[in-house]
Amino acid sequence: MRKKIIAGNWKMNKSFDDAMALTSEVVNMINDEYKGSALTVLIPPSLYVNSVSRMVKGNVFSGAQNCHQEVSGAFTGEISAAMIKSCGAEYVIIGHSERRQYFGETNALLAKKVDSVLANNLTAIYCCGETLEEREVNKHFEVLKSQISEGLFHLTNEQMQHVVVAYEPVWAIGTGKTASTAQAQEVHAFIRNLLKEKFGAAVSDNVTIQYGGSVKADNAVELFSAPDIDGALVGGAALQSRSFVDIVKAMK
Ligand code: PGA
Repeated sequence: MRKKIIAGNWKMNKSFDDAMALTSEVVNMINDEYKGSALTVLIPPSLYVNSVSRMVKGNVFSGAQNCHQEVSGAFTGEISAAMIKSCGAEYVIIGHSERRQYFGETNALLAKKVDSVLANNLTAIYCCGETLEEREVNKHFEVLKSQISEGLFHLTNEQMQHVVVAYEPVWAIGTGKTASTAQAQEVHAFIRNLLKEKFGAAVSDNVTIQYGGSVKADNAVELFSAPDIDGALVGGAALQSRSFVDIVKAMK
């Protein structure tokens, strides 16, 4: 049975005190209110990962939004997967569309970052997704195929078990426009099939595929009912404890 995972990506938001308050609220609410088996992951700005990692417990884990591909060295301003691991986090988002778009991250670079994450016994949340223009000219499957194959197909079957894939159509991120459940399910099934062709059914059946892009408590129930949607990567709605915990609770 593949894991169901709801992750909150706080992006570049919150003061330290506000981040601590949000963490303790979410941890307490999940432990008090949530009886399901989905895992919750809090992904604060990297400066707060250490503190958040020490506050999570039970089925709540922590992660980072990005890392450098090297273990250490003269890379001023960067942080490595080894450092993230040493602070107690378990997940690292790799290839969020904002990293691809604003920081020029390519599939080839992301493949190296995935390697670094896995070499440090962390789980990579590997993001993929098409832009509106790409969907409008019906190129989305082609784009997704290159993102997945160039970023992940060098991995072994064993390594692939430590990767979560997040499908986030760029046109749905922070826009209030969610992909319909049918649109998301179609892409999730396509991704699972790509993984099956490369790694076999035993691996692909166990890969958690999250949907991301304007997920809210009121659309989560329907999205989570689709057979290949195994959770969500949540941005805006993860910045408040109530709205985020209600999304987790939508996963029965
Ligand atoms: P959003 O962001 O939920 O605010 O659309 C999702 C994401 O970028 O991961």
